[in-house]
Amino acid sequence: MQNFLQSSTGEAVSWVWNLAAGGIVTLILLDSRAEELDREMTDLIVVREDLEEEIKQRELQDMGPTRQVQAWLRKVQEIESRAAVFGVSFQQRGASSEGSSLRSSYRLGCEAAECLKQVQRLKTQRGNLLPLLIQAPPPAVVPQPISSASIVDAEKTLSEIRSLLEDNEAPVIGIYGLGGIGKTTLLKAINNEFLQRGSGGFDLVIWVTVSKELDVRKVQEDIAVRLGYSRPGKGQGQTLPEHPTDRVNTLLSALSKRNFLLLLDDLWEKLDLGAVGVPFSSSFRNGSKVFFTTRSEKVCNDMDAQKKVKVPLLNRKSSWTRFCQKMGKGEDQWNDLSIRSLAEAVCQKCGGLPITLITVGRAMAGVTTRDEWQVALMALKSIPAELGDMKKVLILLKFSFDRLKDTPAKECLLYCALYPEDHNILISELIDYWVGEGLLDTGRHPDPIERARNRGHLAIKNLKAACLLEDGRSKEDR
Ligand SMILES: Nc1ncnc2c1ncn2[C@@H]1O[C@H](COP(=O)(O)OP(=O)(O)OP(=O)(O)O)[C@@H](O)[C@H]1O
Ligand SMILES: [Mg+2]
Repeated sequence: MQNFLQSSTGEAVSWVWNLAAGGIVTLILLDSRAEELDREMTDLIVVREDLEEEIKQRELQDMGPTRQVQAWLRKVQEIESRAAVFGVSFQQRGASSEGSSLRSSYRLGCEAAECLKQVQRLKTQRGNLLPLLIQAPPPAVVPQPISSASIVDAEKTLSEIRSLLEDNEAPVIGIYGLGGIGKTTLLKAINNEFLQRGSGGFDLVIWVTVSKELDVRKVQEDIAVRLGYSRPGKGQGQTLPEHPTDRVNTLLSALSKRNFLLLLDDLWEKLDLGAVGVPFSSSFRNGSKVFFTTRSEKVCNDMDAQKKVKVPLLNRKSSWTRFCQKMGKGEDQWNDLSIRSLAEAVCQKCGGLPITLITVGRAMAGVTTRDEWQVALMALKSIPAELGDMKKVLILLKFSFDRLKDTPAKECLLYCALYPEDHNILISELIDYWVGEGLLDTGRHPDPIERARNRGHLAIKNLKAACLLEDGRSKEDR
């Protein structure tokens, strides 16, 4: 008992003494601690900047920071803010009677010591952060290039598609309609909506362009890339197995573990999902979905789509809006009413199809005289009424083609028909082919290749302006 009292009194005394001595030390050391904190913080920021630079470089190779690294960076950010707040209070101490009090100086001293400890801890931790980077998981959604601002009159169809995304009874859905009516555009808009509102319950949104020449292997590879596999010969990651059965099984197994949305653009014939490796038997229902576009309703039936969405033609008003947009003219900027009615008749000839409205609209941009409009209308009126819809589209496209003033660009466009449908054409490669074929020759000598290439870029610019070529997916194809 006595021992206890003695020892407890002794501890109490030393505790009080430590507190007083600690407080005094804290006060005395305030200036030097503030200085040390400033120094250590500068060092830590340099370390952080180096690490961020490394991450930026490796992001180009699809690498991303580990969770440990992300947490470390977050903590550095926190301590940076805390040290900045300390710095301001330290600078301002003495400015007010409250700020200069012993109590507040003591508090500042404690804060400096705390921050310092944390900064030193983070510096030590940095050395233990290994590995820094890992292969980044594929993003849930990859954006598809479209200018949604120029989509008109599509809201009704878009909301129909949106509601089908949530319909558990319809895992396979076909979107069909004429060529150039906007099927791909709608599907891209749906894909891009997931960028804003998160992937909406899907782990992965996969976009695959299928096209006329069905190539199951390409479809498999496009899906595999979205699952984190590398294409053969590209990237250092694992590739799909070579043997067809193994490829199918690998995809079946990887996709079965996910809740995916597969968007297949431009089917021309039935695609056997099972033969690709997409798990879609009637017994497999985990909320995953397949949406596809096609020109043919029959393909929807062959694909056993539970629901079909028919994309409608644009109505008269929306057609006029789109036509005027492409002409670069306001809908109410037509002072001469007789010209306006000729223009409306030309617009009507486009049949409510976005592709013809934009190409014919573009071809007529800058046309101001009644005679020119009359000639254009006569040319379009000569299209035989009995022709099928797609033939009419081709004739309307030819109308735009014929009006191109850049003659080499015409030949260059025809050359593009040698590429497979929906192919992303590499601009530099295309221009070199054009140069090689002599399509950009001027007949003058000397004609340095750089000048010929410039003429190629100009042709591409003119063809895009005429809406006869579209932007590709990556920067190099644009
Ligand atoms: N609702 C719309 N409003 C304005 N422009 C549109 C609309 N829908 C499509 N377009 C434009 O029309 C052109 C053709 O559209 P899209 O490529 O989507 O047609 P598609 O139905 O997929 O044709 P295809 O059957 O040949 O694949 C594109 O340039 C697109 O920007
Ligand atoms: Mg399409």
